[in-house]
Amino acid sequence: MKIAFFSSKMYDREFFDRYNTKHEIIYFEAPLNEQTVNLAWDCNAVCAFVNDKLSADVIAALKSNGIQLIALRSAGFNNTDIAAARANGIPVVRVPAYSPHAVAEHALALILTLNRKTHKAYNRVREGNFSLERMMGFDLYGKTVGVIGTGKIGQLFCTIMLGIGCKVLAFDVIANKEMQAAGVDYLPLIDIFQQADIVSLHCPLTEQTRHIIDATSIAMMKQGIMLINTSRGGLVDTPAAIEGLKSGRIGYLGLDVYEQEEKLFFNDLSENIIDDDDIMRLLSFPNVLITSHQGFFTQEALAEIAKTTLANIDEFEAGTKLTNSVA
Ligand code: NAI
Repeated sequence: MKIAFFSSKMYDREFFDRYNTKHEIIYFEAPLNEQTVNLAWDCNAVCAFVNDKLSADVIAALKSNGIQLIALRSAGFNNTDIAAARANGIPVVRVPAYSPHAVAEHALALILTLNRKTHKAYNRVREGNFSLERMMGFDLYGKTVGVIGTGKIGQLFCTIMLGIGCKVLAFDVIANKEMQAAGVDYLPLIDIFQQADIVSLHCPLTEQTRHIIDATSIAMMKQGIMLINTSRGGLVDTPAAIEGLKSGRIGYLGLDVYEQEEKLFFNDLSENIIDDDDIMRLLSFPNVLITSHQGFFTQEALAEIAKTTLANIDEFEAGTKLTNSVA
């Protein structure tokens, strides 16, 4: 098949070229959106990532360009209008799990960095500043961690935090029995907000979860809460988080995802004027750590993304059941 591959980076090419044996892949650095959709005119399938915009209009244009398959390189599919894909008869396939370990471990990295300030220590010591002023952290052992969403990633994150000796509370629409047996207490969301020292988000972005962290939920939290979001930016109402940081209610904020990230993340904008006042305000706080959607970014995950995406395309070409179909 001929595949229009959007939002491609060097590392995507490296892993797809390593595992691709039969398809013709046309790599575009541009993201997929209304302006770029016609780049796919000669292809049979598009391959898209988290910040590509597969709106109803884009999908209709894909259909008229003869596109037969949308192959997402991500687990989340909130960027794809599934109803429109269905209406246009274009199947959507995804990579349901590439490395849940990678994301769970990155959430821990954000927690440890914010807490023990290793990013500041690195710079200080290199400049000959061996002072410990303002470097004090806290023991994670014995702290209460609230986990929202205990699917593949959330479950691994619970296990890590239990291993450290934290008390783990969780909220999910379906309680995970294995986690309950391991000592995780499932509680209503309000109780999690009120009791947790650290809240970590691991649920998908849906109409129910959009702005699950807003002014109301922040007001319920303990003073100085640590909030971690490695899931999707839209889970957090950014202006409300900024107010929470200003009041001190949020004591630490670790974000791997951001609501307006598609204009920023995955690009080197170091010589640009960044026209996003919310992210610039967030970056002005000493207790905020932002990484640009790198939770998934391990060798193991990139290999899995390439292998599963190519297998999804093979299944479509062979006309067999689409194992990882979302529409
Ligand atoms: P999953 O589907 O295995 O688990 C999601 C869990 O959230 C399920 O247990 C589900 O029941 C629960 N859930 C659904 N609606 C909920 C609600 N309203 N309240 C509470 N829980 C709810 O997904 P997985 O693989 O664990 O991924 C979780 C999220 O992580 C993805 O949706 C994606 O947004 C994000 N992600 C981030 C990456 C990164 O690089 N930072 C990479 C991969 C995924």
